[in-house]
Amino acid sequence: MKRILVTGAGGQIGSELVPYLRSIYGESNVLATDVKAPEGDLAQGPFDLLDVRDGRRASELIGAFKADTVIHMAGILSAKGEENPNFAWDINVNGTVAMLEAAREHRCAFFFPSSIAAFGPTTPRVNTPQDTIQRPTTVYGIAKASMEMLCDYYHLKFNLDTRGLRFPGLISYVTPPGGGTTDYAVHIYYDAITKGSYTSFIAKGTYMDMMYMPDALEAIVQLMEADPSKLKHRNAFNISAMSFDPEEIAQSIRKVIPDFKLEYDVDPLRQSIAESWPDSLDCSAAREEWGFAPKYDLDRMTVHMLEKLKERLVKA
Ligand code: SER
Repeated sequence: MKRILVTGAGGQIGSELVPYLRSIYGESNVLATDVKAPEGDLAQGPFDLLDVRDGRRASELIGAFKADTVIHMAGILSAKGEENPNFAWDINVNGTVAMLEAAREHRCAFFFPSSIAAFGPTTPRVNTPQDTIQRPTTVYGIAKASMEMLCDYYHLKFNLDTRGLRFPGLISYVTPPGGGTTDYAVHIYYDAITKGSYTSFIAKGTYMDMMYMPDALEAIVQLMEADPSKLKHRNAFNISAMSFDPEEIAQSIRKVIPDFKLEYDVDPLRQSIAESWPDSLDCSAAREEWGFAPKYDLDRMTVHMLEKLKERLVKA
């Protein structure tokens, strides 16, 4: 990667990915794009407005910037997708197809963020294999599974350098997620700092894969820089750094805030989505093919999250 265009740059991952890429590849070599005008760090480097469904504009921007890589982060998350399935399909599928076509026109490498949501209730739940049954039951998951296959197709058919990761729930203190099922694992840290308690919309005993944002950013760069001759898979690799239920994350928080209280008010929609996803992924293909090695486990992440959020929220 030398010249990179990022879509969805203002989102949960994009807002941290863009500064991270700029720190590695140089500020002027990373073009941030989003449907909304930039805020914060994004405003400091190259930025253009882009609706990912507008393939013509995407192609013009890629051409003018002379991008060699497209990192396509724009998308609607799982719970929000269920509120308006047609809109989620339009952004998550039509937007990805438009960006893939623009990348093909300019022979760009293409990164696609898939998800644990690309699996479904008939997928083996524990130690979910890299290659297994994928019958997702959310519009978000169906879009992710379809786009994984379409990205593989672009590689096979057009020899486009497409690569992707199946992200677990991502936890970060910078930009909060919006409308996802794994969001509880971010909100719990905010409420731990501001209220000393949290009411979880996900039930006790519900396990999902998770990862701290710095590990996710590093994984994107590692995969995109990996030697292509080593890649047996492309779209998309299972990755995860930990798997926990609400009780286990609460226990981890209590090591720092002993009085922290966890209560439940389960949301049926998000609970049913969570129950359709794996408990824990087998990440051996990612480790073997490109050296995936996350640094943060639950307790290390908790200490870092609480420290950073305290700095931000207690001052504010
Ligand atoms: N974090 C996403 C969500 O909850 C899953 O990829 O929607």
